[in-house]
Amino acid sequence: MSSPSLPFDGMRGPAALVAAPGVLVILGASGDLTKRLLMPALYNLACDGLLPDDFAVVGMARGNMTTETFRSQQRQEIARFHTRRSFDEERWQWLESRLHYTSGAFGDAAAYARLRELVAAVAAGTAASGNTLLYLAISPEFFAEVNQQLAAAGFTRLPGRKRIIVEKPFGKDMDSAHALNQSLLALWSEEEIYRIDHYLGKETVQNLLAFRMANAMFAPLWNAAHIDHIQITATETVGVESRGQYYDKTGVVRDMLQNHLLQMLAYVCMDPPESLDPDIVRDAKARLLEAVRLPGPADVARDCVRGQYGPGVKADGTPAVGYREEPNVDPLSNTPTFAAIKLHLDNERWAGMPVYLRSGKSLWKRGTEIVVQFKGAGASNLLIFHIQPHQGVEIRMQAKRPGPAFQLQRAGMRFDYAETFEASRGTGYEVLLYGALNGDPTLFSRTDFVEASWRIMQPVLDAWSQTLAADFPNYESGTWGPRAANALLERDGRRWHECLSREVLSRSAFFADAPAVLLNTLVLAFRPLAVEAGATIVERGDTTCDLYMVCRGALEAVGAAGERFGVVKSGECFGEMALLLNQPRSATVRAVSSCDLLVLDAEDFRRIIADFPQAEADLRRIAASRR
Ligand code: BG6
Repeated sequence: MSSPSLPFDGMRGPAALVAAPGVLVILGASGDLTKRLLMPALYNLACDGLLPDDFAVVGMARGNMTTETFRSQQRQEIARFHTRRSFDEERWQWLESRLHYTSGAFGDAAAYARLRELVAAVAAGTAASGNTLLYLAISPEFFAEVNQQLAAAGFTRLPGRKRIIVEKPFGKDMDSAHALNQSLLALWSEEEIYRIDHYLGKETVQNLLAFRMANAMFAPLWNAAHIDHIQITATETVGVESRGQYYDKTGVVRDMLQNHLLQMLAYVCMDPPESLDPDIVRDAKARLLEAVRLPGPADVARDCVRGQYGPGVKADGTPAVGYREEPNVDPLSNTPTFAAIKLHLDNERWAGMPVYLRSGKSLWKRGTEIVVQFKGAGASNLLIFHIQPHQGVEIRMQAKRPGPAFQLQRAGMRFDYAETFEASRGTGYEVLLYGALNGDPTLFSRTDFVEASWRIMQPVLDAWSQTLAADFPNYESGTWGPRAANALLERDGRRWHECLSREVLSRSAFFADAPAVLLNTLVLAFRPLAVEAGATIVERGDTTCDLYMVCRGALEAVGAAGERFGVVKSGECFGEMALLLNQPRSATVRAVSSCDLLVLDAEDFRRIIADFPQAEADLRRIAASRR
């Protein structure tokens, strides 16, 4: 039987093709985006030989600089922000000689006339003329005005290819996004508007498409008949830091869910496009978002959890302030810094299968993961896309343990980018700028996608702005987020798959010196448990034993007469002696504060000890020293 042909059939991997000649105009060239992301990305493209000789950057900003001072400013910044292992002076000089600058305020018509002249002069007589990219690296409140000025200065009538590149945030709700689209579409055609979502520049997000399109074996399973549910998580350890002014008006739904998480959802769940033609891919993505059931007020109340971080402790042990104490944040702010949302897709492929989205700041771990839980046994049958910081794809399954008895064990199969490819770390903007130069809009959002994504999130925004969250702040910095987010899944008989890393386990003295194979096994075996202050975790005399590791918080060990004879702190374990000696628990263990724990089931513990005798000796030694 012949298998259906896939768009990637026969594709042997990317040929290094030099981008089309062109001029990149950056409005807001003296700002953060330029120095941190755009310039390092251009430099990476230059180092990889992907920029043509007929290429130039023309910057404009309020700052009173000349081309010379702009070049020397960018040279200083690139030394700090480049992402290569070593700095290639020659390639930088190549790029630097192509940088130009004109100063001007956004409201000054004469500045745009000068800009147009400079662009024409730079491109004159080269193949770069006829391909102009206008990058708005500016705050969104200036979008409309700058567009009008560009149009008045004749940029919309430039001969050849021209494009306007717009950064997020694209609007602040459905109506403003629609109005912004209308104002752009009055001046530019849809093909000329490139709306950036930097998540689409991430290798692993793009790999979602490759994975779906080029690996036929998963295609028949990619539906609600075989998949139980999908989780998309993007958590950060950082709080809002210096961005309070922006963030307090924005919140996590606008900042992360409406754009980055829905983009990932679209890639994971869209019907496979028939080809890689940009519009066919974008049609498939837009159709998927159209299929998302819009939550009504009752759905928001039941299926959407919001959170805001309070003070706490960061993963490195340093204190963290609460959101309301951050600079430029309202001390009574109702802005959510965490959200967990359950969505349904009303189409043939996914009917009946929920998708859970989750994102938040000031949490225990930085990590973006997409977990596809296939139907069947709990913690195995998983396909995990690790988007960042570790990049890879992993399958968790059951495997037979070595030995005469037929015993199963959770095992993982992992494709790791770092081990498979030898590439310099990029900023993510390389592929976006490269696509824009080539006039390839695949990675940019069309009007229909942007408006569909706002439509999905608008009911959540409305409900949450109308009712104040009485329990804010409702999670401590450095934790796994509000308890209600766990309850959201537990209600459905599910749980979040927290992707542990070896680094998290190595924070405990118990595992600090453990060999990599043991750590890999533990990473698959531990499951998270969050408990409130006062909760009893184990009772003295219990014969059912598990091993617990404390990620955060403190617990007390209490004897028969209620006397406290020990405290278990973050990074420590308890339960190992009862397990090793096969005895009832010698103490009751209670949470003194709210705690985040990792639990290793007794059965997994015994199996691991059998496989790693040295681990048993280490556990005994560490336990003895504790006593
Ligand atoms: C941005 C948000 O779009 O994405 C930030 O405005 C967030 O608040 C960032 O920190 C996350 O991006 P990344 O690439 O670090 O996951």
